[in-house]
Amino acid sequence: MAKVLVIGTGIAGITAALASLKHNEVTVVTKGELGQGSTEWAQGGIAAEMSGPDGVIRHAQDTLTVSGGIGDANAVRAMCFEAAAHVRRLQALGVQFDREGEELARGLEGAHSNPRVLHAGGDATGAAIQAALNRALRAAAEAGSVELIENHALVDLIVDFGRVAGAVIAPHEQGGSSSLEQSRELRADVTVLATGGAGQMYSHTTNPLGATGDGIAAAYRAGAELVDLEFYQFHPTYLAAPEGGPGVLISEAVRGAGGTLLNTDGARFMQEANTLAELAARDVVARSIVAEMLLQPGTPVMLDARPVGDAKTLAARFPTIDAATRTLGYDWSRNPIPVSPAAHFWMGGIATDSHSRSSLPGLLAVGEAACTGVHGANRIASNSLLEGVVYGERAAFAISRGLWNAPAANEATVPLHYLSVPARVEADDFSGGTNFQGLSDPENFSFTRAKLQKLMWQNMGVFRTGADLQSASNTLEFWRQVVPAPSTVGELEDLNLLELAFASVHAALARAESRGAHYRVEYPHVSKYFSHRFVCTTERPFRAYSAHL
Ligand code: SIN
Repeated sequence: MAKVLVIGTGIAGITAALASLKHNEVTVVTKGELGQGSTEWAQGGIAAEMSGPDGVIRHAQDTLTVSGGIGDANAVRAMCFEAAAHVRRLQALGVQFDREGEELARGLEGAHSNPRVLHAGGDATGAAIQAALNRALRAAAEAGSVELIENHALVDLIVDFGRVAGAVIAPHEQGGSSSLEQSRELRADVTVLATGGAGQMYSHTTNPLGATGDGIAAAYRAGAELVDLEFYQFHPTYLAAPEGGPGVLISEAVRGAGGTLLNTDGARFMQEANTLAELAARDVVARSIVAEMLLQPGTPVMLDARPVGDAKTLAARFPTIDAATRTLGYDWSRNPIPVSPAAHFWMGGIATDSHSRSSLPGLLAVGEAACTGVHGANRIASNSLLEGVVYGERAAFAISRGLWNAPAANEATVPLHYLSVPARVEADDFSGGTNFQGLSDPENFSFTRAKLQKLMWQNMGVFRTGADLQSASNTLEFWRQVVPAPSTVGELEDLNLLELAFASVHAALARAESRGAHYRVEYPHVSKYFSHRFVCTTERPFRAYSAHL
């Protein structure tokens, strides 16, 4: 029996925890209450071919095509072949996937060659899955087979003689004001990070407030390898709230059901950009929208949901989006609604193998915090819930076999810190040089999360230039020197975002080509010289907070 510590309670974390209960002593830590992470918000669905091997192979092919040539074929095959079994397991836990007659309803989303996206509650797939997993986890906690610690944030990993031996956690409350003085250690034989992504690096994001990259940053500080950090996905269709504040993600499933994108002249523009038009891969649609927005200067494009059906049809198929858009004052059954891209999903993260093992013994990672390689440079729609459940279960399998030592190094990767950042960057005629004023403006000498988000949005967004990335790198390096040691959870989150932003900008500078979601204006094509993936490690492991040393 091993002591297992799972941090994070989305689909990947709870799956890993439930599948580990039988033979181990399991503790689960979550930053808020159950259901406050990204899984709850997932709309479109979970991609899974239920029809047999031919369909599964096509799913794997579509996933690899979208991955920009660097998706890991073995990891993708494993995920696609195991999908159907996981859907049945989720059904057994009580998830009611929508049906059309006797059959499971199957939606179409961008770059899928076949309708294979299963959904629940119309557009509330994540909420339905999270509710079922929460019930199972709470039942296990009540039965005493798991210890559940809510409202606690990960502070750092404990590393003893090169092995991860648990984690330091601190109480967390909304707003992040709780003190790190209240941190405590949780020792474990194996620690599973399921802490999600870091959408809060950007000023416009579809992610919840808690998406501050805590697990990825703690793993980095502990010396784990991170990979593919330059690949960040921007969801094309986010409806910004007119008064600021959280907006509404408009699922790709809306375009899959017939929704179209229009410019301010009321004309479709995606047909010219790509043969798949509105159903091209997300990176293509996001870039086309930004390019269109530059022509109509800055005004969002419009998503026309009227081809999907009348008000009743829209409310029945997309109840969450229907209600949320109406709350913001829009009636999408009558008029197109304004949309623009927002930061959505990090393909990069903690490098893991087919058993979800990181490069550090005793540390596994699952879900968006991990980089299994299934997405490569770009994720196809609705593969994130699937990756979470498949690799969550694989983590539990590894634990059951005692396989928590580090895997062999991946030969398809190249260490980032050996690569020199290009000294000269070519003139940029796209954005006119530096977007974010950086250190030429004394206002920016002090660090705040809002400034970081603005810098990342303007200089490390859908279109990138060497000049903007270099300026971002200089500013981030300066902030890293001046930022004080954190004393609260909120300050620690800020530090996590800063460290991860710096590492990802460095990776984006090093990748002097365009591939998947990473687009360099001065290098607009895929280059054969960059078919490898960059691994990033800190040369000197450190801790964010010294009081628990
Ligand atoms: C969507 O419904 O468009 C988002 C789902 C995903 O990120 O795959």
